[in-house]
Amino acid sequence: MKSEERLKTDMRRLRGLLKKVLADDEGARRALQSGDEARILDVACGACIEAETLSDVLAELKNGDAPVDVDSAGPAVKLTGIDVRAREIADAQLRFDKMKDGREFEFLTGDATKLEGHRELGEDFDVVFMRHQNYWNGQRTWEEIFDQGMKKLADNGRLVITSYFDKEHELALEAIQRLGGKLIVTEENAESRELSTVGKSIDRHIAVFEKKK
Ligand SMILES: C[S@@+](CC[C@H](N)C(=O)[O-])C[C@H]1O[C@@H](n2cnc3c(N)ncnc32)[C@H](O)[C@@H]1O
Repeated sequence: MKSEERLKTDMRRLRGLLKKVLADDEGARRALQSGDEARILDVACGACIEAETLSDVLAELKNGDAPVDVDSAGPAVKLTGIDVRAREIADAQLRFDKMKDGREFEFLTGDATKLEGHRELGEDFDVVFMRHQNYWNGQRTWEEIFDQGMKKLADNGRLVITSYFDKEHELALEAIQRLGGKLIVTEENAESRELSTVGKSIDRHIAVFEKKK
């Protein structure tokens, strides 16, 4: 399979996975529907391949599967992506229009261990997403990123992570719960695409948390 087709397949599977874990989550739906605009923060997003898929799914959840009103004055969904790598962020900025079909995208280069310092991001995100979190390769850094990500959540907001491999997912689940996250669901991706490293695959696991009340 060509790499472009592989990416499309990965996105189709990620879409299914997000719907599976969020579609019946009343709290997430309430958070997404609570204001005019649903706000998503995609942390450590790299080139943010998933920007469109993620904003599509959340727009559908916000609108109860009604089509997004593309003529409305403001965006129904605003996705902000942040990563420490400027080149990947520049790629994301090139790939996604600033405003498209009732969705707005913005991408920033920055250190996600210091989200509090990024005042331009604002607060109260409905969903904070971390695709392929990298806890295994820097536990201290990623504990800071998890902690900072959770602080950016609105009251009913959801922290959603995906992981490449089993042990990393298990350790991240423990860390996030230690840091004040309440696990709502964790799900294995039955269709996850295997990578060359044994045991590692695309969006192998997904988990959803809320802040402990
Ligand atoms: C495994 S990659 C995942 C990238 C992307 N989410 C994906 O799924 O393709 C981990 C990402 O974390 C980013 N990262 C690592 N430390 C970071 C930090 N302190 N602040 C922001 N991004 C960071 C890296 O630059 C990299 O893009």
